[in-house]
Formats: sequence, C-alpha cells, structure tokens
Amino acid sequence: MKVTFFSAKPYDKAFFDRLNANFRFELVYYETHLGPHIVNAVEDSTAICAFVNDKLNAEVLQVLAEKGVKYIALRSAGFNNLDLDAAKALGLRVCRVPAYSPEAVAEHALAMILTLNRKTHKAYNRVREQNFSLNGLMGFNLHGKTIGIVGTGNIGKAFARIMSGFGCKLIAHDIHEDDTLSAIGVSYRPLSDLFAQADIVSLHCPLLESTRHLINSASLRQMKPGVMIINTSRGGLIDTAAILEGLRSKHIGYLGIDVYEQEDKLFFRDLSQTILNDDTIQLLMSFPNVLVTGHQAFFTMEAMEEIATTTLQNLSRLSQGLEPENPAALLV
Ligand code: NAI
Repeated sequence: MKVTFFSAKPYDKAFFDRLNANFRFELVYYETHLGPHIVNAVEDSTAICAFVNDKLNAEVLQVLAEKGVKYIALRSAGFNNLDLDAAKALGLRVCRVPAYSPEAVAEHALAMILTLNRKTHKAYNRVREQNFSLNGLMGFNLHGKTIGIVGTGNIGKAFARIMSGFGCKLIAHDIHEDDTLSAIGVSYRPLSDLFAQADIVSLHCPLLESTRHLINSASLRQMKPGVMIINTSRGGLIDTAAILEGLRSKHIGYLGIDVYEQEDKLFFRDLSQTILNDDTIQLLMSFPNVLVTGHQAFFTMEAMEEIATTTLQNLSRLSQGLEPENPAALLV
C-alpha cells in the first residue's frame, strides 16, 4: 500500500522508515503541507499521512477521494484541521494517534512555566557574558500556587500529576469530569471560578467551535492581575488581539505559547533568513514576559516512536478491514 506523507521532516522520515520495516508499505514523503495547492500531486496513493497544519477541508478531501485515497492517517492527537463530516460523506476512513505521550506535552507545559517564572533563558545568556547580576531574575515559588487546568483528558491529567508534585493547589474545568483526579487533589470548578482563582491557567482542551477564543477580553478580565497563561493545545483557543491588549496593560504577567493561531504559515520551518510577514508574532516575541516555542511540546523520542508505531498499525489494520486497536484512534 502506498502512503503519501505531507509536512514530512527528516525526523519523521527517520522514525517512519525504520518502523516501516515491520509493515513494508511504500512511503512517499512531501515536505510541503497539504492543501488545495498540492493535493493534485497525490498519485496512486491508498493512504495519506498528515500532520497538524495540513489542511484537510472538504475541497481537499473531495480531490483525495476522487484520486482513490481510502485512508487518512493523522499522525497527531488533535484533528481540528480535518472536516470530519466531509470525510464521512466521502466514505474516507480517518484515524489518529489519540495518546502517544501525554507526558511529553505536559512536561513541555511545565518547562514553559519554569522558564517564564525563573527566567533560566535570560540567566543562560547573562552568565555567558559574565553578568552575574540577579536584577530582573526574581521568580515566585510554585509551591502553594493555584493552577487552573482547562481540559483534563490525557494531557491535562499528566499535567495535574506533575503540578501536584510541586505542591500546587489544582483546580480544573472539563465538560466531562474525572472523579479519579480527586485523589491527587484536583477539584472541578466552573470556568469563571477557575479563571478568577488561578495563578497559572494551562489549556489542555481541544480546539472546537465551543472552545475557539476561550481566552478573550471577557475571560481575561475575570483572571487575576499578573496571571500566567500557558497554551500547549491549539492556537485558536486564544484571541491573540485580546492577549496583546492584556500584555500591554500588564494584566497578563506571563504568556507561554507552543501553538499560535496563524502558525501554519510559520511553524516547522527555518525562516531565519526571511522577513516575517506576521506583525502579531513579532510583537508577541518582543515582550520580555512571553515565551514562544514552535509546536514542539510533543517532540520527544518516546512520542515520535509511539506516533510512528501507532500510525503504521492503524493503517495496517484499516487496510485489512479491521478497526484500530484503540477505539479512540478511529475518527470516521
Ligand atoms: P483528550 O481528548 O484526552 O482530552 C481533551 C479534554 O478536553 C477532554 O477531557 C475533553 O472532555 C475536554 N474538553 C472538551 N471540550 C472542553 C471544554 N469546552 N472545556 C473544557 N474541557 C473540554 O486530548 P489530549 O490528548 O489531552 O490533548 C489535548 C489537546 O492537546 C489536543 O486536542 C491537541 O490540540 C493538543 N496537543 C498539542 C500538542 C503539542 O505538541 N503542542 C501535542 C498533542 C496534543
């Protein structure tokens, strides 16, 4: 079976080629992201393997179906970039990797918190220039602080476990509450209470129509002055214009984002020789209390191994007329 990859980077190729020894699919890699501009290049492919910024809208899915594609394997957990209704109507089967390494993302959220708080990135540069002054490096103890976790699925739960180890008070909001989390001290609150009480708000819910711009001017007004906001989930959860206003007014004390609403035009590429055509991210990156990483929260060896293994297993089972082993992996 021929599988055509989009947004494929050298590290994707390395993991998939090695693990494909057990499956023997024909793997074809395109570095460009999938969208209307390139979809016609797909030839004789039974399956497409796509990543977070590949655009799988109705128009693209229609062309893929016409070209004989049967399976779409997302090598991600999130699937907001794919039109599920259109896929269903076209008879395409769509699978994903529901939980490859929740710890990878949760640990990155922690890394962002610690960097923003203890300013290790600034200290690193400072001491290299023999500047051992501590002015401007003061942080705060995480112990005893209130962490508001929005979304307590696989990643939110892993994040709660980590933060409980720091002696934080854990409050959460989810449309499906998980009773088992009370054992580590998590108590569920309405979203407005979470916003009002949290010193750090960390987003771990999916991007849906109901969660788009969950962080907006109104929700920011409910938050404590000096709040830290961490988003390792999806850029669209945050209204960037409102965030900029919150940063300017100093109501937001710290912002850590691994995802960005317009990231598809920027992330996963080396643009160091380019003049960026995005004033908003330039402005965001200019704030000393903002940390931006380029959608790297998932990026650990363990996660890559799991992503490649599960994606190939999903495709193998679908091609045999079976469903993926993990029911959550099958989207349609
Ligand atoms: P999950 O499906 O296990 O958990 C998501 C949770 O959010 C569920 O408990 C769900 O009930 C909850 N939720 C849904 N709507 C909500 C709402 N309106 N308010 C509060 N909670 C709501 O997903 P998982 O694996 O924990 O991933 C979460 C998100 O993290 C993914 O959707 C994806 O966007 C993002 N992600 C980011 C990565 C990165 O590298 N930055 C890597 C992997 C995932």
